[in-house]
Amino acid sequence: MEVRFRVHRFDPEVDVTPRYQVYTVDVEGDMTVLDALHQIKWYQDGTVTFRRSCRSAICGSCGMLINGRNRLACNTRVGDLNSPEVSVSPLPGFPVLRDLVVDWDPFFAKDAAMMPYLINDTPAPQKERRQSPEEYEQIDNATLCIMCGCCSSACPIVWSNGEYYGPAALTRLYRFVFDTRDTATQERLALAGSEEGAWRCHTIFNCTTDCPKGVLNTQNIQALKRKVMLKNLGFGGTRIAFELPPPKPKPLSDATAAAHGDYGAGHHRH
Ligand code: SF4
Ligand code: SF4
Ligand code: FES
Repeated sequence: MEVRFRVHRFDPEVDVTPRYQVYTVDVEGDMTVLDALHQIKWYQDGTVTFRRSCRSAICGSCGMLINGRNRLACNTRVGDLNSPEVSVSPLPGFPVLRDLVVDWDPFFAKDAAMMPYLINDTPAPQKERRQSPEEYEQIDNATLCIMCGCCSSACPIVWSNGEYYGPAALTRLYRFVFDTRDTATQERLALAGSEEGAWRCHTIFNCTTDCPKGVLNTQNIQALKRKVMLKNLGFGGTRIAFELPPPKPKPLSDATAAAHGDYGAGHHRH
């Protein structure tokens, strides 16, 4: 099957503005977009420039905008795109260095700001710091992140405000805030609640939708917001356990129901 690849080209030494160049590749079997880019580079045009390393969805270096979605080129099968033409562009929102290669420095600077390592100020035990399977469960999904940038590049808030930490860095923050072995929770919550932290998120879900590893970025950011809010209310960032049974909903009179809209039994707004 012949597929046209519309590839973003930009050489800062000669180009004033980016352009697109079309290559045709004979796609067979399970060929991925990365395989197709290799075909182009090795057999048609050696100047086409992109990043890749593991070709196994592990290193996170081949994130690109492929037919309008942020994806890893190495685990996107051309056949699955079901399209006679595939457009390939650099991750949106990142400065472009050349062709499909973007500048990762601002992205990794935000990750570094999250203190992406375990901090524990209690004396080290003889062996490892232990955690129950249930405790680990809380951070399991967040540890799947391979730092490919697809989520942050899909976030309209990142596009409009380069200072916002963005979903990748905030998922990293979540991973340590909810790690029961970490004791820097207060410092981390200060980052989560800061000007460029979780409150900037508009809960648009692009980040969760485009994560190739299934990381629940939006949900992680909402969990950080709840934790910051509880801390600010004086609960030390811990979960509130309600000891009392919840109050029984009062039946609405017809007049009240009309004034408030009829939410049905037990769903009124008080
Ligand atoms: S959360 Fe997902 S999309 Fe974001 S950097 Fe990690 S692996 Fe990539
Ligand atoms: S949910 Fe929040 S972080 Fe994710 S894309 Fe939307 S605004 Fe950005
Ligand atoms: S080449 Fe490593 S994630 Fe695609």
